[in-house]
Amino acid sequence: MKFKAMTAIAALAVSMPALAFADADDDTLVVNGEIEMITKAAAPAHLADTLDEVISGWHMRSDETQIMQADDFDNPGMIFVEQAMDDWNTVNGEKGKSCASCHGDVEESMTGVRAVYPKWNDSKETVYTMEMQINDCLTDGMGAEAWKKSGAKMARMEALISVQSRGMPMNVAIDGPAEATWELGKELYYTRTGQLDLSCASCHEENYGNHIRSDHLSQGQTNGFPVYRLKNAKLTTAHGRFKGCVRDTRAETYKPGSDEFIALELYVASRGNGLSVEAPSVRN
Ligand code: HEC
Ligand code: HEC
Repeated sequence: MKFKAMTAIAALAVSMPALAFADADDDTLVVNGEIEMITKAAAPAHLADTLDEVISGWHMRSDETQIMQADDFDNPGMIFVEQAMDDWNTVNGEKGKSCASCHGDVEESMTGVRAVYPKWNDSKETVYTMEMQINDCLTDGMGAEAWKKSGAKMARMEALISVQSRGMPMNVAIDGPAEATWELGKELYYTRTGQLDLSCASCHEENYGNHIRSDHLSQGQTNGFPVYRLKNAKLTTAHGRFKGCVRDTRAETYKPGSDEFIALELYVASRGNGLSVEAPSVRN
């Protein structure tokens, strides 16, 4: 564990009592006895001055929560993946198509996709989240209604698509045309907001491994998203989580799907390059 900046600890201790040390554990995660997850990896080059190692949030969970993620029969998030499988095969919209009409089997067509999102979209000339791509497929490809950003249908489809990349290392591109968006995301990550005057980095870079209130702070990685949260028994998207974290600093938050959260999603994903896609992961 790295040395923790005292100023950040002081700021947190004032606003949130009960900060205590506890390192990430050394457990390993193998799903269904066959998918070996990389839950700790050397930090990507762009973080070389900041972190030695990137660590999945899985390590900060209790043993009981960790175990739920090791077997699909115990992972409550898999129910939503099954529902999304029905959506995948269901005809929807004026053009009489399902996702499968164009993409075929999700297992074959979507392998590796989650690991590289968000990514630059050449024809739209902007960074695309998976949600944006799915909504394009719904509206343009199917003549159907777009799904609500970060809504239940969207989250479960993202989970189904993510499952096809489980175990594969995150590998989002941050150079080339995506760079400006990445820079914006980085700026947002280090900007202090709210009455508590905290940035994402105050908690997830300077204080990961510590306990805050009753929670064990992780690096705030997104490789496990969408996550199944025991707290509300639902899938939560990355933007849904960002929203909650910003609100915790008592700041006005951006909307799911906003340019700011798209940029933040790319930047945060890039901080986890090298960690396995784990979705749907289980968190409290
Ligand atoms: C009419 C055909 C069509 C239908 C129906 C369709 N898609 Fe697509 N989809 C495409 C095309 C074409 C692309 C490639 C777009 C590109 O690369 O710019 C694509 C790309 C994608 C991608 C990104 C793949 C990648 O490698 O980046 C995802 C994810 C996706 N579709 C999900 C879905 C889902 C979920 C549905 C059903 C709700 C769906 N699609 C329905 C045509 C379709
Ligand atoms: C006041 C401290 C605090 C701040 C500031 C904060 N978070 Fe969090 N965040 C938490 C806590 C607590 C959790 C739940 C425990 C954990 O996984 O770290 C969490 C969880 C997360 C997770 C889920 C990680 C996982 O593996 O499930 C992500 C992603 C995340 N935060 C991103 C962000 C981003 C991006 C920002 C800045 C916009 C941010 N957080 C700001 C406290 C904070």
